[in-house]
Amino acid sequence: MKKVKILSTGSYVPPKVLTNFDLEKMVDTSNEWIITRTGIRERRIADENVSTSDLAVEAAKKCLNKVGYKPEDVDTIIVATITPDMFFPSTACVVHKKLGGKNEPAAFDISAACSGFIYGLIIAEGLLKTGKSKNLLLIAADVLSKFTNWQDRNTCVLFGDGAGAMLLTVVEDDEEYDAILSTYLAANGNYEELLYIPAGGSRMPASKETVEKKLHTIFMSGREVFKVAVTKMVEAIFKTCELAGIQPQQLDLIIPHQANLRIINAIGERLNVDQTKVFVNVDRYGNMSAATVIVGLDEAISEGIVKKGSLVELVAFGGGFTWGGVIIKL
Ligand code: ACO
Repeated sequence: MKKVKILSTGSYVPPKVLTNFDLEKMVDTSNEWIITRTGIRERRIADENVSTSDLAVEAAKKCLNKVGYKPEDVDTIIVATITPDMFFPSTACVVHKKLGGKNEPAAFDISAACSGFIYGLIIAEGLLKTGKSKNLLLIAADVLSKFTNWQDRNTCVLFGDGAGAMLLTVVEDDEEYDAILSTYLAANGNYEELLYIPAGGSRMPASKETVEKKLHTIFMSGREVFKVAVTKMVEAIFKTCELAGIQPQQLDLIIPHQANLRIINAIGERLNVDQTKVFVNVDRYGNMSAATVIVGLDEAISEGIVKKGSLVELVAFGGGFTWGGVIIKL
């Protein structure tokens, strides 16, 4: 049986910082409310002329450069995003062009909102282990700032822009261990209207009315999303731990989707694990949708919080609703 190996990770956030104090000047909110209810202090915002593929390419370059891989060494590019550059071509195809690779890899996007990186990792595992791919670049990138209603205080304080990338390869039996220990994916489409962007698709194409009503921006019932997010991420952690034959306390680090510090803390409490083992960067970046988990992993590796051999749970929850978890061994 083939085994998956993680070769490298990389991440990128745009330089422009939007603080809670900046938001105080834009909507009826306060630094204190945002910190108390969400734990967010600041977030990064892409410039007007910067799109999702630009962030994705920066993260991908960092990831490839760390191990001296060239774009043409990659035979599959997957981009997890809900903020594609356009409907088609896919953002993965745009990334292929911008990376300047001279080969013709498979390239496609996946849409699973904030769970996009988890969904992508499980698809990547399948492609690698069945021999369909040898070197796969998985990117999660979102520019939610362009789909945010900057007059709606319920949502505009929550989101930020960013991208992360992971380079994976496949090795034969002789490798020490498989990097992917266990996986779990789930979704429930009945929750559609608790978290969505109503217009712009085939159900409600763009029109003067949809633009005037700001139906191309995020609508969210925060309180309801909060409850389900905690329950489902905890469920995903228990399921993946059970499949891997370990207890949550044996994980070296849990990197949950970064939407709200209270959600992150609630996960630690329900699992009865030390909060220092639950990764947090929501204070600096807000909710970067699909990118949060991989940006977190890249930071945890570069800061030495985890190292070779560490057991890490990546777990996410997002629009759909979608959720899932993966336990990796670095
Ligand atoms: N500043 C000041 N007051 C505000 C703000 C703000 N920015 N936003 C809301 N309020 C007010 C509300 O109007 C409400 O006032 P009222 O009581 O007079 O009606 C009050 O604060 C409390 O509102 P709640 O919605 O109950 O606040 P809550 O404690 O639930 O926090 C939040 C809201 C932060 C949105 C929280 O519910 C949350 O984080 N939800 C989950 C978000 C999430 O996980 N998203 C996941 C994925 S995102 C994706 O997939 C793209």
